[in-house]
Amino acid sequence: MIEVKGTVHPDVKAKVDAKSWFYTDEVRDHFFNPKNILKTQKEATEYEAISDGVGEVGSPACGDMMKIWIKVDSDSDKIKECKWQTFGCASAIASTSIMSEMVIENGGMTITQALALKPHDIVERLHGLPARKFHCSVLGDKALSAAINNYFFKSGQKDRIIVSKGAEIVDKILKITDKDIEEAVLEGAHDFEAVQKKTKVGVQDKTCIPRVKELIEFYKDKYYG
Ligand code: FES
Repeated sequence: MIEVKGTVHPDVKAKVDAKSWFYTDEVRDHFFNPKNILKTQKEATEYEAISDGVGEVGSPACGDMMKIWIKVDSDSDKIKECKWQTFGCASAIASTSIMSEMVIENGGMTITQALALKPHDIVERLHGLPARKFHCSVLGDKALSAAINNYFFKSGQKDRIIVSKGAEIVDKILKITDKDIEEAVLEGAHDFEAVQKKTKVGVQDKTCIPRVKELIEFYKDKYYG
């Protein structure tokens, strides 16, 4: 436990666990020396003009945003450059920085390999992130997928565009969707009780409970491997 100074309720003090906010050397390094970042708006505008694909996403969990640009070698289908900008936290900066390195190292990932990249792989290369910051690594990963989709669109590869389905309403009374379940899992709720505590799913509409449990397992596997 770390020492909490000042007037703090003992219950609060007891909950402050230093380990839960531990940042690894890799996270610190990429936060202080981010790789492949576009620092100014001018740099971003100029790079956008010569890039092959651009993707922008916002995080439902915290409201931060991420933008990624890629350059692709069409003959080999490999990503040759990956640049980015964010209005996100230290974890988002570190995870996107290392992801941009992973995508271009050893001659670059193929588009198929890049699409198979999971936030879990990024977190592993960072030697871990605090559990409550895991959703920050998803931001870069989702922006990369959006940039690849944009590349498919711009290069006329319409058959490769990934069409995301609309939200599925799982709890018919409270109108809770699969996206709400996804967000809860990303925020650290990893079993039905924890997800229900966050979202109130299944409190009134008990028929949705099996589907919610299925979705929790699906998102846990998708993001945490
Ligand atoms: Fe928003 Fe990390 S990206 S808290």
